[in-house]
Amino acid sequence: PAPEIKVKDINTKDSGKIVKIQGWAQNIRRMKKQDFVDITDGTTCRKVQLVLQKNSFDLSKLSYGSSLKATGSIASAPNGNPEIHTEEFEVLNECPLKEENGYPFTPKQSHSPDYARDYPHLRSRVDYMAAIFRIRHRTLMAIHNFMDKNDFFNVNTPILTANDCEGAGETFKVQPDNVDLLKDMARPEVPLEDSYFDKKVFLSVSGQLHLEAMTYGLGNTYTISPAFRAENCKSPLHLSEFHMFEAEMGFIDQLDQLTDFVQKLIKETSLTVLEKSSEDIVLCHKKFGERDFHWLNKNWVTMTYKDAFDILQSHKDQFTTVLKEDEGFSKEQEMFLVSHCESPVFLVDWPKQTKPFYMKESQEDNSKVAAMDLLMPEVGELVGGSLREDNYESLKAKVPSGLEWYLELRRFGGFPTAGFGLGVERYIQLLAGVKNIRDVIPFPRYPHGCKV
Ligand code: 4AD
Ligand code: MG
Repeated sequence: PAPEIKVKDINTKDSGKIVKIQGWAQNIRRMKKQDFVDITDGTTCRKVQLVLQKNSFDLSKLSYGSSLKATGSIASAPNGNPEIHTEEFEVLNECPLKEENGYPFTPKQSHSPDYARDYPHLRSRVDYMAAIFRIRHRTLMAIHNFMDKNDFFNVNTPILTANDCEGAGETFKVQPDNVDLLKDMARPEVPLEDSYFDKKVFLSVSGQLHLEAMTYGLGNTYTISPAFRAENCKSPLHLSEFHMFEAEMGFIDQLDQLTDFVQKLIKETSLTVLEKSSEDIVLCHKKFGERDFHWLNKNWVTMTYKDAFDILQSHKDQFTTVLKEDEGFSKEQEMFLVSHCESPVFLVDWPKQTKPFYMKESQEDNSKVAAMDLLMPEVGELVGGSLREDNYESLKAKVPSGLEWYLELRRFGGFPTAGFGLGVERYIQLLAGVKNIRDVIPFPRYPHGCKV
């Protein structure tokens, strides 16, 4: 039998070779002597053309989107692209046309992202959506490879947690749906709805605290995990369920060690993705608008929160959102800083009250913490991180109840650590140029949106 080949591997260099190919029909052109069927199999945004001699095959069930298999010889088409001169052809399953109340997509492929979003279970077949999901894969692999190369251990942090790491009260509470089970397990000292775990349990907003515990035994660690946030926010940069790439590094006591690492990580992984996914990136940029990556070739700006505030203050008439000292910045203000500096911006030394309890107080000014946010073009905040409070007494004074185990880390051989979290979906938005975060995750969850 002919060896099976994937569309991504078909090359005119192999002209004459007989191969088997399977996939889905795209454009179908019926000419006088021959029929032409473009086929895709998801491995690349390229399609390969099958050439079928007229009246040699049963094409009765062939339509846009139908699955098929074919055998034939690789050849070079007049335009130089590879094609397959078909010898055997079979439609595996038909795909009823849109006009007949069937498949929502048509060969035009000009469907808007808004339209495709109505069919989460079908949209991976739309060319630019498949391209985004391949870019997503490349991005995750680039991160894993970079971290492995830099001697970080990949660990899994739990989804079910009893802490609200960020302290923002944006947790989803988890409890069994089975009331009989709860009654069965009830204890007098805990409310019935919390009786499965004997405490309130949430979907994790961040794996950081557990990751830190692992770093105390393994040194440098990272995780790429789902994170859940109950925000009533319909923004194109927020999801209720997203993925966070978090890293913790041991024996780090300067914020610029952290920002240097993040800058290197993002530059290196971006270059890898742009190279390995170049065709998919071009396709996305055609669909969503051109992007330039000038930020890859310069040193990024680092600026204190105070300096950023002063810049924003002197331009405050331009903003629709109110600028308040010590309350953090709005998306609009973040984007202003990035374009004002013509560079990604590390904002450092944040007012203590804007940030969670685990951040280390600045040595020079204890109203500040050694925190950094990285602001990027297109998406604003991409990364948040800090030096971690490693002083037992300082941490004891601010640790929320229930996190005694976290405090204990500092009691037994505590050491200086630092870490960060990067929003994976925002990173993919940045690389692929996608405006709405709901289009870079296969099955988006957002307020009033848990469709499929
Ligand atoms: O700034 P955040 O909240 O930081 C943390 O959770 C820390 N515990 C991370 C750490 O130090 N280990 O979130 C980190 C990043 C943000 O910069 C943003 O890119 C992304 O996660 N993010 C979201 N992405 C999509 N939808 C949401 N609702 C997001 N919230 C945060
Ligand atoms: Mg943040």
